[in-house]
Amino acid sequence: MSNSTKLDIQNLNAWFCEKHALKNVNVKIPDKEVVAVIGPSGCGKSTFVRCINRMHELIPGAKASGKALLDGVDVYGGMDVMDVRRKIGMVFQKPNPFPNMSVADNVVAGLKLVGTHSKKELAEIAEERLKSVGLWEEIKDELKKSGASLSGGQQQRLCIARALAMNPEVILMDEPTSALDPASTAKLEELVKKLKNEISVVIITHNVSQAARISDMTAFFYLGELVEFDETRNIFEHPKNPLTERYITGRFG
Ligand SMILES: Nc1ncnc2c1ncn2[C@@H]1O[C@H](COP(=O)(O)OP(=O)(O)O)[C@@H](O)[C@H]1O
Ligand SMILES: [Mg+2]
Repeated sequence: MSNSTKLDIQNLNAWFCEKHALKNVNVKIPDKEVVAVIGPSGCGKSTFVRCINRMHELIPGAKASGKALLDGVDVYGGMDVMDVRRKIGMVFQKPNPFPNMSVADNVVAGLKLVGTHSKKELAEIAEERLKSVGLWEEIKDELKKSGASLSGGQQQRLCIARALAMNPEVILMDEPTSALDPASTAKLEELVKKLKNEISVVIITHNVSQAARISDMTAFFYLGELVEFDETRNIFEHPKNPLTERYITGRFG
């Protein structure tokens, strides 16, 4: 277990107009580990990850307070918002490849916008990232096909490749397997375990066995509060809070 902290979240609060959706959350996301975020629907999981890369504030009426220190630098302080979202990438529940772009162009879409890479470099990066998500062998002959023509599981891995192309330091995933079949889910879980060799992963899941299988640390949220955060083994074997125990044993949720 490494002990260095990648993201130190301090006194994080979030609102939707009057609704206080996240209440004073404090959590240290370790470097190069997988953190699972669990809890019943509506408890603030998505709001939590969306605050981390400053997507929450895009919703009209939404605001946040507190700190999220990425290697000691507050994403709510001096950092450029676009830089925050590049360093802290995001993958959503429903895969969202750009439908009118080819598979290869999808991977490097962000880099193309930045405009700093040659065509050859972009092709190399696309190949490298498609390899790192295990898609290259499956689709190397179909790179010109539309990203939207892939299967759901392939689309989700394409979206992860697209996030990785920006060289993020943290990747946030909001229920990335909830729309996938079991075989695609298994592939994505393997990929998550591999990603932590390089970066920190924060993954929301409504599937507690998935959290147990793939994460090093687990955060349990309830009604906007972080009830318990600990090594996954402790959360599942010796939860400290009776609410955590009731949730992981399926007694509510
Ligand atoms: N766009 C929004 N506008 C108003 N309230 C919202 C919005 N998104 C979420 N909420 C509310 O904030 C709370 C937390 O939501 P969310 O973070 O989406 O929970 P979870 O991801 O755990 O299901 C819920 O009560 C939800 O109704
Ligand atoms: Mg959610």
